[in-house]
Amino acid sequence: MARNFFTLMRSSAPSASAHGAATAERPAPPAPPNNMTDGADAGGGVHFDLTLEAVRHEINEEVDIALQLRDVSAFYGSFQAIDRMTMPIPQNRVTALIGPSGCGKSTLLRCFNRMNDLIPGARMEGEITFEGRNLLDPNIDAVEVRRRIGMVFQKPNPFPKSIYENVAFGARINGYSGDMDRLVEDALRRAALWDEVKDELDKSGLALSGGQQQRLCIARAIAVQPEIILMDEPASALDPVATLKIEDLMRELAEEYTIVVVTHNMQQAGRVSDYTAFLLAGEERVGRLVEFGPTQDIFTNPLDQRTEDYITGRYG
Ligand SMILES: Nc1ncnc2c1ncn2[C@@H]1O[C@H](COP(=O)(O)OP(=O)(O)O)[C@@H](O)[C@H]1O
Ligand SMILES: [Mg+2]
Repeated sequence: MARNFFTLMRSSAPSASAHGAATAERPAPPAPPNNMTDGADAGGGVHFDLTLEAVRHEINEEVDIALQLRDVSAFYGSFQAIDRMTMPIPQNRVTALIGPSGCGKSTLLRCFNRMNDLIPGARMEGEITFEGRNLLDPNIDAVEVRRRIGMVFQKPNPFPKSIYENVAFGARINGYSGDMDRLVEDALRRAALWDEVKDELDKSGLALSGGQQQRLCIARAIAVQPEIILMDEPASALDPVATLKIEDLMRELAEEYTIVVVTHNMQQAGRVSDYTAFLLAGEERVGRLVEFGPTQDIFTNPLDQRTEDYITGRYG
């Protein structure tokens, strides 16, 4: 089998970005002497030897890995929804999961924080390494995983509580004993909602607009100090203006968090993400990873014909 060195230390001059200034502004890393250096070299980067055909693109920046998937499969009873997906999720970057409806995007996202555990009959195989441990190991505390890897859903789902309590709730449950007012303000600021709600923190979260509710849910996720934020089509229920706000916010959040976003909107994936994974299910409905790489490469130079067909709109 061909060995693919997916080298996250490689450097060359970045070419025009598919998604504008956000990535272009990142300082270019110094060029390493070659791209096959050991993972433990001075740059602090990591590289992975992946034997999966799907990861064939070169990475032109130095980046660490937040999650490393190896042969991740998921089942609902006897039905296999996703089959042996292997890829990295780069740290402090936005990774988009794209593909037609039913290809397993939500299922994969739910593997990342053990949300599938909550679905009766759901089962996962393989490895997702997070800080040296396999998240899928049954001995790992799924509640702790969900604190560190938060989730935002398609439909904004604030609690029927005040704006303040929506944000404070999770932190309180986790035993947060610091200055709650500061924590709430900080989370609302990071979610780009503070200026709109600072004078009405006692108002019900349900009284906000859809876009504000979604930012409130993002603030709620941030308040428990996660490292990774998963978003499942977070803007698909929102109007275009609210959608752009969420997209801007995703770019900002990537400075501090690792973001994984499911979207069926190609333009959105192009605008917000640094990396893209294209998933596809065949006749038998089993989702597989077709291609993973820098978003710009996936969109302008896909290596698989099926990726090209999808991004040019040839699938439904
Ligand atoms: N709770 C569930 N029980 C059984 N099958 C499910 C469940 N959730 C999703 N599936 C099936 O798994 C496959 C992948 O679904 P999903 O991850 O929701 O895809 P996507 O998010 O890409 O639309 C589909 O065939 C879907 O019908
Ligand atoms: Mg879905």
